[in-house]
Amino acid sequence: MTPTPIASKSIPKASRAILDPANIEYTSDKQKRAVAELVEDFTVTPEMLKAIKTNFIESMGKGLERDGETLAMVTSYVMGRLDGSEVGSYLALDVGGTNLRVVSVHLNGGGQIATRQTKYRINENLKVGDAKSLFDFMAVCVDSFLDEHQIVVRGDSQIELGFTFSFPVLQTSINRGTLITWTKGFNASGMVGKDPVAFLQDAFNRRHLPVRVAALVNDTVGTLLAHAYNHPETCMGIILGTGCNGAYIEKMSNITKWKGETPAEEMIINMEFGAFDKERVVLPLTMFDNKMDRKSVNPNKQILEKMIAGMYLGEITRNVLLNLIDRRLLFEGNVSADLNQMWTFETAYMSTIEADNSPTLHATRKILESTLSFSSTTLNDRQVVKLIVELVGKRAARLSAAALAGILEHTGAWQQKAAIGIDGSLFEYYPSFDTDIMDGLEEVFGPEVRKNVSLGLAQDGSGVGAALCALLASKYS
Ligand code: BGC
Repeated sequence: MTPTPIASKSIPKASRAILDPANIEYTSDKQKRAVAELVEDFTVTPEMLKAIKTNFIESMGKGLERDGETLAMVTSYVMGRLDGSEVGSYLALDVGGTNLRVVSVHLNGGGQIATRQTKYRINENLKVGDAKSLFDFMAVCVDSFLDEHQIVVRGDSQIELGFTFSFPVLQTSINRGTLITWTKGFNASGMVGKDPVAFLQDAFNRRHLPVRVAALVNDTVGTLLAHAYNHPETCMGIILGTGCNGAYIEKMSNITKWKGETPAEEMIINMEFGAFDKERVVLPLTMFDNKMDRKSVNPNKQILEKMIAGMYLGEITRNVLLNLIDRRLLFEGNVSADLNQMWTFETAYMSTIEADNSPTLHATRKILESTLSFSSTTLNDRQVVKLIVELVGKRAARLSAAALAGILEHTGAWQQKAAIGIDGSLFEYYPSFDTDIMDGLEEVFGPEVRKNVSLGLAQDGSGVGAALCALLASKYS
């Protein structure tokens, strides 16, 4: 299979244009009541946010004690902090988001990094086919990257590669682990319980590529390391994109399940927090979330992720819209063929709708009429759609705030200067996601938190992080 490179694009981020439900001219009392109910169902009040945070901290504690808990709290085998002086050249392969990326990373010291990268689209069949084909495709992409960038390896030497594999993996060393479960629409057969590094190395060997997989790293851990390279006070790496998760620096003495030996005092923990509240005791799930969960490839799993991450927000919104349509409270009860299909309401449309501040909501109209093929829409339709989008988007940001607050409280990091490196399309592009998170943190900790804690975009951090991890791996060995 020939991989198709994708060009990178950067869209400037807008702010949310807030729509006050009181300013909507409702078509009927029934519509007004239905909207009021949705506002109630999707609002995460400050009390709820604090309750979720408290429950989250308890789950963290359990995961640090034992394997197999709801929060996996995976020990990453990455110990010690970076100071930006590290130097070396590595390859990174980043798999687990919408695209696959191959990156060549040159760490130049002094916090300076130079990278070259190519993105490739992973087709849907590969995600749910057999594991060997998926890993062969990864090797093809690396091969084509080496050609494209004329990276030549002489003699018997090998290029060291950091492998960012952004799924729950129980690590057994810095370059070994077993896949616990697939997430984010991947479900390739024959991988659960197996080591992704062995699969990748075999695929490289089959193509005779001079590449050695030196480190296995979760994208959150990579993001933390990449951000720390320029901001040594970094204490967390967070992904808010197709999926969601976080990693933070934990004291070895708190990781009571750790049986290994190490002189290190700290280790990065990959929390796998998307799995939070499997027990469904604290998250404010609605019937629209349940409907989406049932139809997903991994029902009953990754409950928090499904309320926060970009892969799911559009589908939740679509479910709400369909419910109003079926009750003849929206679009006069008519649905377009496009909206009738699962996953057609993309989270990227939500960003555009959130930012739409025109009196007639013309950007919203364009999405509904040109992209989703509604023959016509009224201003009331567009206002109701916008309001629903706001509810789903804001809930996601506030739930993210609850998780971040849990980590900040558990570590006490909010009381000192703490940098949080965040990567992912939601954080980068979704209007006001960052401000909503900060507002949530302030509700928990008070205004002081704004002075201490900074949220920074660690764009494409996981590739650089994987390279840093490969460097650390060679240091340890
Ligand atoms: C995976 C995590 C990953 C996150 C963000 C989740 O589905 O389980 O390992 O960090 O997505 O990519």
